[in-house]
Amino acid sequence: MVQLKPLAIALALVSPVLGYKFERLDKNNTVLLVVDHQIGLSQLVRDQTPTDFRNNVLAHAAIGKLFDLPTILTTSSETGPNGLLPKEITEMHPDASYIRRTGEVNAWDNKEFRKAVEATGKKQVIIAGIVTEVCTAFLALSLRENGYSVFANTDASGTFNPGLSADANRRMENAGVHLMGMFGIVMDLMRDWRDKPGLDEVLPYLDKYLYDYGLVARAHAGAITNGTLASVQQTLI
Ligand SMILES: *[C@@H]1O[C@H](CO)[C@@H](O)[C@H](O)[C@H]1NC(C)=O
Ligand SMILES: *[C@@H]1O[C@H](CO)[C@@H](O)[C@H](O)[C@H]1NC(C)=O
Repeated sequence: MVQLKPLAIALALVSPVLGYKFERLDKNNTVLLVVDHQIGLSQLVRDQTPTDFRNNVLAHAAIGKLFDLPTILTTSSETGPNGLLPKEITEMHPDASYIRRTGEVNAWDNKEFRKAVEATGKKQVIIAGIVTEVCTAFLALSLRENGYSVFANTDASGTFNPGLSADANRRMENAGVHLMGMFGIVMDLMRDWRDKPGLDEVLPYLDKYLYDYGLVARAHAGAITNGTLASVQQTLI
């Protein structure tokens, strides 16, 4: 064992040169943040259609349910024009920490919110919010500054236009934030279709929130159960 030590040190020294450490999401070390997805603020989101954005926000919130992640909801001045969270989110997470900020723009400036994140003991944070360059980016940058790994679910953040979204994402990426969509996040958390949650839990989730994938599975099921092949199709496989 003692002889291995110099080897380990040597490897540690060369590994940055050889490349790169792939930081994977670990469902045991992850907290999900739902930041300011309020009805009033949703009207500022012009880089997605309202229908797509609602789906993506609910899908974001549902990642916490799917993987049993500690989940923290926060809002900004929700009794004012920013408005309430969609009731689908509060009903989905009746037991989540819910921090109603009355002034702080950056959720990290709120002591109660910081305490709620710290109390989870988790070091990887999945985040999305409205608007991307303010509520998502400010918090993401503060989390990075405080030693957290941050995974921004880019599907579930929105803003006034795609240019602002690109600027905000670049700013976050420069600070080491991982930019991922919902599908990437869910696949990284799941890792293996044979795990739990695995196929049995994740496929219904995808059918609901990523219907593109639902179509793949439905077409396959329909073909196997009810389909017949024209002989010319045999030539395609
Ligand atoms: C999470 O914890 C469970 C139970 O301890 C363990 O089986 C699993 O391998 C862990 N997952 C990861 C990604 O470390
Ligand atoms: C598809 O096949 C299943 C199993 O045989 C059957 O129950 C179902 O009615 C069929 N669906 C259609 C649309 O024919």
